[in-house]
Amino acid sequence: MPHAIEYDRLGGPEVLEYREIPYELPGPGEVLVEVRAVGVNPIDWKLRSGARPSKPITTPRRLGSDAAGVIVDVGEGVDGWAVGDEVIVARISNAYATELVVDASKLTAKPAELGWEAAAAIPVPVSTAYQVLASLEVGDGDALLLHGGSGAVGQAAIQLARRRGATVIATASEANHDRLRELGAIPVAYGPGLADRVRAAAPEGVDVALDAAGTDEAIEVSKELVADHHRIGTIVLGWRAAELGIRAWSGGSPVPLTPEESALRAEAIPLAARLAARGEFELEIAHRYPLAEAAEAHRQSETGHVRGKIVLLP
Ligand SMILES: NC(=O)c1ccc[n+]([C@@H]2O[C@H](COP(=O)([O-])OP(=O)(O)OC[C@H]3O[C@@H](n4cnc5c(N)ncnc54)[C@H](OP(=O)(O)O)[C@@H]3O)[C@@H](O)[C@H]2O)c1
Repeated sequence: MPHAIEYDRLGGPEVLEYREIPYELPGPGEVLVEVRAVGVNPIDWKLRSGARPSKPITTPRRLGSDAAGVIVDVGEGVDGWAVGDEVIVARISNAYATELVVDASKLTAKPAELGWEAAAAIPVPVSTAYQVLASLEVGDGDALLLHGGSGAVGQAAIQLARRRGATVIATASEANHDRLRELGAIPVAYGPGLADRVRAAAPEGVDVALDAAGTDEAIEVSKELVADHHRIGTIVLGWRAAELGIRAWSGGSPVPLTPEESALRAEAIPLAARLAARGEFELEIAHRYPLAEAAEAHRQSETGHVRGKIVLLP
């Protein structure tokens, strides 16, 4: 029998239950994917806990945006996909499962050289980093201040910003500074005195800032150091962006992504998959859990100190 993680009420990780779910066949335009790895994102536990508002729960609720697996059945009218194809599944809301029926529009081909865990680690973090850097017009010669450089979004943002020709000053705890250096960033410890440490690391100043940490410190230091506040963005404090006078994409923002921003997010997935398959883009996997232990994965993610990505393995 297929299995999935479901919950019936908002709450702590203990509300997550590993349950049998009915067999489902793909309908027109859909495929059935046997899941090999699932990406855990902070939005998953924010929705589960109620930290991010959602509609009242009336039937068992599923979760998870990102997965990778093999197509095992194809519905009517699906062009370009066949049984046996290895795929990345993105932009869904029920990824924590052993099998998934998904619309073919959610699929990206997984290069054979790309592992399952890395493939499942791509969609939300990499597409977010890619779109936000493009929207902030991060380019050649820019000095980017990145808050939260060692997380999944942060590691993607460092690599993509370096490819765009920027210098990256990234914050993380001391223990993760070597990792930031490996990815091409100048590491700086967050905490009191941050602005002075950034000034020392970037004596010519910073041009643009991206907040992937969601702290008051990140916003205050960005506003102090970046002259043009239109070049400060957050992906965490979206609901406060207008009051703070900075830009935001999702992260609780009342302003939806534009079609162009959504298109950028979609474009990032095959691009990152190709780069990673060639060894030109790294996806660090911090922790792996069996799917049935999703609650433990959430406890880990909620510490706020995961270096890289958590994946679930069915
Ligand atoms: N708006 C969107 O579309 C969107 C999309 C994706 C993610 N997000 C949000 O963006 C955030 C990051 O996502 P993620 O997947 O990268 O999360 P994550 O992997 O859980 O990020 C954890 C990282 O945050 C760092 N961190 C913790 N406290 C910090 C602080 N005070 N200052 C700077 N860094 C700190 C940690 O570094 P140390 O361990 O070194 O302390 C750790 O590496 C989450 O809040 C997520 O919900 C938003």
